[in-house]
Formats: sequence, C-alpha cells, structure tokens
Amino acid sequence: MPSTKARILMMLFEHPHQFISGQEMSDAIGCSRTAVWKQIKELEKDGYRIESIPKKGYRLKGTPNRISPEEILAGLKTEIFGRHIVYEPSMPSTQKRAHHLAEDGAPEGTLVISDEQTEGRGRLGRTWHSPKGTGIWMSLILRPKLSLNKIPQLTLMTAVAIVKAIKVVTGIECQIKWPNDIFYNGKKLVGILTELQAEENQAKAVIIGMGMNVNLTEQDLPDDIKKIATSIQMITGKPCSRAHLIQDIMKQMESFYHFYLEDGFGLIKTLWETYAMNIGRIITARNVNGQVVKGLARGINDEGVLLLEDQEGRIHRIYSADIEFNG
Ligand code: BTN
Repeated sequence: MPSTKARILMMLFEHPHQFISGQEMSDAIGCSRTAVWKQIKELEKDGYRIESIPKKGYRLKGTPNRISPEEILAGLKTEIFGRHIVYEPSMPSTQKRAHHLAEDGAPEGTLVISDEQTEGRGRLGRTWHSPKGTGIWMSLILRPKLSLNKIPQLTLMTAVAIVKAIKVVTGIECQIKWPNDIFYNGKKLVGILTELQAEENQAKAVIIGMGMNVNLTEQDLPDDIKKIATSIQMITGKPCSRAHLIQDIMKQMESFYHFYLEDGFGLIKTLWETYAMNIGRIITARNVNGQVVKGLARGINDEGVLLLEDQEGRIHRIYSADIEFNG
C-alpha cells in the first residue's frame, strides 16, 4: 500500500491544473486534514512546488527532477514493470545489485535504480560513466520462460521501447546502432546491457541494464566521451523529467513484452529495422578477440543476430561486436 505522502502526490499528479481540497484528499485517503497538511509540507521539503490557497486547496506547480520510488510510482501506468523499486541515491552498479536481488528471488518487473553509480558497467567489460543526479541508471529484472537463444531479442525489444519512449516524452527521434546502442546525430545517448542467469538451456532471470544520458551537460562528460556521446538536455537545450521517462519506458517495455510473449518477435523485428542506422550500409564488425568482418549489413535474423554479407557474397552471423561504419 503506498504511503500517505505517495497517495497525495498521486492525486496532485492526476489533476495537474486543478486545486484539490484538503478535505477531498483526507476523504479519499482516510486520514485527517492535518495529516494531509503535514505531508504537503514534507513534499515541499522534498522540492515539490505546491500552490496552496485557503478554501480551494492544493495544486502541483513543479516537481524536483527526482527519481525516488514515490516520484516514479506516482505516474506509473504499468501492472508489473517498475511496481517494485529498489532505489538508493548511490550504488556501485544497479546491474550488480539486480543480479543479487534476482538470485534472492526478486519478482519479475523489479526495477533497481540509483542517482549515481560509482562502478557502472558497460558492454564488453567497459566502464559506464554515471554522474550523480543527471542520468537514468537502472536495471530491470525479467523472468521470461524462454530458451537462451531468444534472449538477444529482449535487448532489441528494449531498444525499440526506449526509442519510442524518448519520442513520446521529448519528441526526439533516435536511431538504433546494432545491437543495442541508441544514437542521435551520430552520438550515443543510451546503452543497454543484457545479462542472464540461466539453468540448463532456460533463462532463470534476465537483467536488462539501461544507461541513459538525460540531463548531462558538456561539463559532466570526460573529454574522451564528449566526442562520442550526447544527452537529451544537450539536444533539446532544456532538462527533461527523468521520472516521466522512466514511467514511459516501463510502460512501453511492458506492452512490447506482453505482445512479444504472445505473438513472437515479428513486430519488434520490423520496428527495430525501421529505427536501425546500420542496415543497408557497409560496416566493420570487430569482436572482443579482435576478429574483423567487413561487409554489407543485410538485417537481423529472428534471433536478433546481425547478418553481414562480405565481398564474396558470404553471409556472416555476428553475435557480439563493435560496429564501425564504412559507407
Ligand atoms: C553499453 O556499454 O553501451 C551498456 C551500458 C549499460 C549501462 C547501464 S547503467 C545501469 C546498469 N548498471 C550498470 O552497471 N550498467 C548498466
């Protein structure tokens, strides 16, 4: 059951332009008007701007750019995804924490989120720069009954869901670089890291880590990253509500996930190819062992594997690699 504070916040969110009286709130929640008033003061301390007019009531004027569970739950429109949130202001890595929680039996849809990561992890053993209060650093636990060869499809599903959510919340139209980077104007905005806990050939838990550069400014990015990365704020020139983005990502992911489990990979594959920036281009794929394949990116197969045609017309199946564009 959400706290009184969370329920007041939900009511304020649900009536963004309207005053709600203290009486109305206390009747709906089942507490005294003094308790409502106290929680309103608490919300103001948390950084919410609440207009309060005698005989009219309370109206929400502004929110802090927070990602606390209360803030996220207040506008969350899902049944399962993000309904159970593990939040701390700072963590070494949400991915690492999610692995431990999954081992301990955390339910599907558990969302681990932090305002800062001190040991954020990227793909291929890289680190992930996660400065405080700027981005979305989160990991979602799923428990699909899928064989292991299907798991890459969930990464592609996540990329499609994030591209859609970014468009809905900010209007920005991004592209996907295989397998799971989200780019805008040639610079990386989001990285996705999918990891697995498995038993025989069956997934026990899938941990989907998402790193999103939301309100980072040039100063937040180290020089080497500045050349290759961007943020939503750097693109639009204004800060974006991280909570709204998280809420919409959860919503998009949940609806794609249900669709995927019932109807298969077809829709996601089509959408992914629509958003992809690699397809039809000459690219070089370099794997962790330094092996290189150059060719024309033909598309992805039903397992989410990239199909690359070399000069001799041979098709190479690329499971994991870094991609460079050559034309
Ligand atoms: C990539 O290399 O592109 C993937 C980056 C994934 C980063 C996210 S941030 C939240 C989660 N926790 C981590 O330590 N990594 C992932």
